[in-house]
Amino acid sequence: MTPRGARGAGRRGRGVARLLADFGHDLPASPQPVRNGREPRLFRYAPKRGQRHTGRGWAAATAPVAAWRMTSDQAPVLWPFISAPGLPPTGAQMGIDQLSGGSFYADPLGWVLRDDVPVTNPNVFAFGKPGRGKSATVKAFVLRMMDFGYRTLIVGDPKDEYEKLCHALEVQPFAIGHGLPARINPLAFGPLGAGWEHLDAAAAQARAAVVFARWLTLIRGLVGSQRIGDTRVPFGPSDEVVVKTALADLTGYAHGQSRLREVTIPQLWQALDTPTDALVTECRYASRQQFLDGTRLLRDALGQLVTGALAGLFDDHTTVDVDWHAPIQSLSLSRLEPLGDDAVGIALTCLNSWGRAMRETATPGDLRIVVRDESWKQLRLGPEAVKSFDADLRLSRRDGDIQFAVAHKPSDLLSAGDTGSQAVTIAKDLLHLADIKILHGQDAAVAAELETLLGLGPIARDLVTGWAMNGKGRALWCVGEQAYKVQTVLHPAELEIAFTNDALTGAA
Ligand SMILES: Nc1ncnc2c1ncn2[C@@H]1O[C@H](COP(=O)(O)OP(=O)(O)O)[C@@H](O)[C@H]1O
Ligand SMILES: [Mg+2]
Repeated sequence: MTPRGARGAGRRGRGVARLLADFGHDLPASPQPVRNGREPRLFRYAPKRGQRHTGRGWAAATAPVAAWRMTSDQAPVLWPFISAPGLPPTGAQMGIDQLSGGSFYADPLGWVLRDDVPVTNPNVFAFGKPGRGKSATVKAFVLRMMDFGYRTLIVGDPKDEYEKLCHALEVQPFAIGHGLPARINPLAFGPLGAGWEHLDAAAAQARAAVVFARWLTLIRGLVGSQRIGDTRVPFGPSDEVVVKTALADLTGYAHGQSRLREVTIPQLWQALDTPTDALVTECRYASRQQFLDGTRLLRDALGQLVTGALAGLFDDHTTVDVDWHAPIQSLSLSRLEPLGDDAVGIALTCLNSWGRAMRETATPGDLRIVVRDESWKQLRLGPEAVKSFDADLRLSRRDGDIQFAVAHKPSDLLSAGDTGSQAVTIAKDLLHLADIKILHGQDAAVAAELETLLGLGPIARDLVTGWAMNGKGRALWCVGEQAYKVQTVLHPAELEIAFTNDALTGAA
């Protein structure tokens, strides 16, 4: 039997470490953790109603929170604005995105080029009640885009309100009105007329097609803006043939001349009023009398432009020499205001055609913002005016222009014609040609058309008729399908430039 002591010593024995040490092998010792007192407590238990101390947000009763359960594709229906992803911070910094609290940047061409922004054209339509800050937002936008190389063309400024902006940029705007020297020929060749004599036949043909198409759009718009009673003067294919043939004759294109002559509207009218035998046969009329009878409406409508309210403004060769490299160019039209909205609209149509001519040879990288403030005056002139506007919007993708049109309300576009008419259909399509819409405040009376024409839901509609009405420069920016609640923020210097209430403060 083993003695108790020996048995006890045997059970305790030497540990493995000791045993190995006795044979000369030292096992590494495990490091001891260093203790520096107690770790600080990061989280504390908070009672359900908060800490019961002054200033700790303690509530006597818990808030009745309603729990809702839905899938992620149903949630945006109830909270449509929360899900809109932010836009990239490129382009003009316009102000504050009220939903995220961050800065809102507008960069129409940049958006078109990005796949994550659902925008396919850089055109912008701004709507809003007068005095809500539409023009101020336009001015801030063009000013801030200048840093990125954009130049601005204001095609028609009916209230001369862009003059301050031009002066700030040391540019003198052109004023158009009776008794002023500035004349603009809407039938000018524009830069396309230069170097015509060096072109080969095919190139000359291609250029002629562009120029003639622009002229026809213009004449169609001008003739179509005249009225017979309640209806607009029609401009059919026969009228088109007559105008085209006369223009080809007058410019010398029909005779194969290498140097083309510039034509004015009175010259065109004259040519149709006293037709040559060649013109009569070329247009396939049996006699001079038949020609005169067939073109009476066309001639009288053109005659109205020559002898009517706008006589002496758009009926001679262009006298202004536009510097296309200036940061901004503007054509002030306030002197036409007493002649009525139609006269201003016709002037805008002429200026559009002229402005388009100047853009036909735009070089890549020559970025422009073309502003049409009070564009509704032009759109009211009937279907042809709408078509001409439509043509400009469609070109923007090709030229890289940003077309920025300003109107009062979406239904302004529909005043071009009767319900269901072609003009109204085109006008509705126009809305789709602008993927970016800026909706400033509107009266409740306009609420219904925001839904039917722009497809806004009730939440967006209420923002436009409510929130946006309560502050200048507030607007709902619809970028493709997404909407942003934006407050335009103006610098004091910009506020000075954008101030349009001079007359009101003067009267007060
Ligand atoms: N974001 C803004 N912040 C402060 N004032 C503004 C803002 N936008 C416009 N205003 C002021 O409101 C007035 C009317 O603006 P305006 O742009 O002419 O309106 P609209 O073109 O919609 O008729 C201007 O005098 C302008 O100074
Ligand atoms: Mg305005």
